Amino acid sequence: TGEAPGAVAAWWRDAQRQQLLELAAETTPRYVYHLPTVRQQARALKSLAAVDRLHYAVKANTHPAILHVLAAEGFAFECVSPGELKAVGAIVPEATPLLFTPNFAPREDYVYALGTRATITLDALHPLKHWGELFRGREIVLRMDLGRGLGHHEKVRTGGSGSKFGLPLDQLAAFLQLADAHGATVRGLHAHLGSGVLDASHWGEVYVQLASLAERIGSVAFLNIGGGLGVPSHPGEAPLDMVELDRVLREVKAAYPQYQLWMEPGRYLVADAGVLLARATQQKDKGAFRYLGIDTGMNSLIRPALYDAWHEIVNLSRLDEPATALYQVVGPICESGDVLGTDRRLPEAQEGDVILIAQAGAYGKVMSSHYNLRDEADEVVIDA
Ligand code: LLP
Repeated sequence: TGEAPGAVAAWWRDAQRQQLLELAAETTPRYVYHLPTVRQQARALKSLAAVDRLHYAVKANTHPAILHVLAAEGFAFECVSPGELKAVGAIVPEATPLLFTPNFAPREDYVYALGTRATITLDALHPLKHWGELFRGREIVLRMDLGRGLGHHEKVRTGGSGSKFGLPLDQLAAFLQLADAHGATVRGLHAHLGSGVLDASHWGEVYVQLASLAERIGSVAFLNIGGGLGVPSHPGEAPLDMVELDRVLREVKAAYPQYQLWMEPGRYLVADAGVLLARATQQKDKGAFRYLGIDTGMNSLIRPALYDAWHEIVNLSRLDEPATALYQVVGPICESGDVLGTDRRLPEAQEGDVILIAQAGAYGKVMSSHYNLRDEADEVVIDA
């Protein structure tokens, strides 16, 4: 129905709408995760023929039901803290591969991770220089900074000068010397340039760059080309072309077939699977604007305040009514930045209406807080 290829149909518009209204009647604010959408996204990634191993970047959403679904789909897991390693360890089968990819983590985090089966990624000289004994006889992964960053907002670009991630190219020789001195073997190379990338050619370029570095190192068996796979958010934005991504990856893999190709997406798997349900509280006309208040704000979903992220917002109680009002949708938090959506055309709302904020499955609940001592949003999953 005119849906762009690769775009995810909004499950909440149709079959699940009544169920969502009932879930909102029990309590709000509430995150709802639709597991069939997670599976659908997992299968889209599994169709990438050149990818040897897929890891779920757990930071995007750590709900146990989602970890279960992705473990059942055969995913490995990428964790960035002992807390994430514990959450995953409690749920996934014993043999599931784990990656530990922290940044500026304290020594004790590496000590913890080394006691698990996780493969450890380093992205600085410091760990080998000062804690070299930890890595003796170990196979490690090296995260490179390839000199540029990408992503939907400056705050999610993780490469290039000004970014704290990755080892700069001019320190590669020093890193290899330290690894050698401490008896550690660089078995993998890694790069993750940023989050919310919609251009399929990017991951091919990263694979080729890492492969040419791997040629110089000799001991490398796999190239982890990161996550960052975007989902369209603004109306009219084109989705990531998965057919093209498949083609690009097959092409670069054919050029360097000696390396395993690993990826670690987060957002792509869960963003469209989650919505945040809230209730309309108050309205106010002030100056040029009409404000529609809802019962949660930046404490539950910080992405609009932090990144100017655009999330579709609908009045689920009045989905079929004409959108005659122009609202600034705001929360109850005592900050001017507590705005979830600006200039939204919506039906005339009433107190108690269920307001749905879409595409909230990634970096929603996991980034929420108790700010203003407000309760965190509830979470529930549906599987049909
Ligand atoms: N690998 C590494 C090393 C990462 O740092 C990240 C995300 C991922 C994989 C997964 O990226 P994804 O596939 O989800 O784009 N809070 C921001 C996104 C921050 C991403 C942090 N790192 C947001 O809400 O847009």
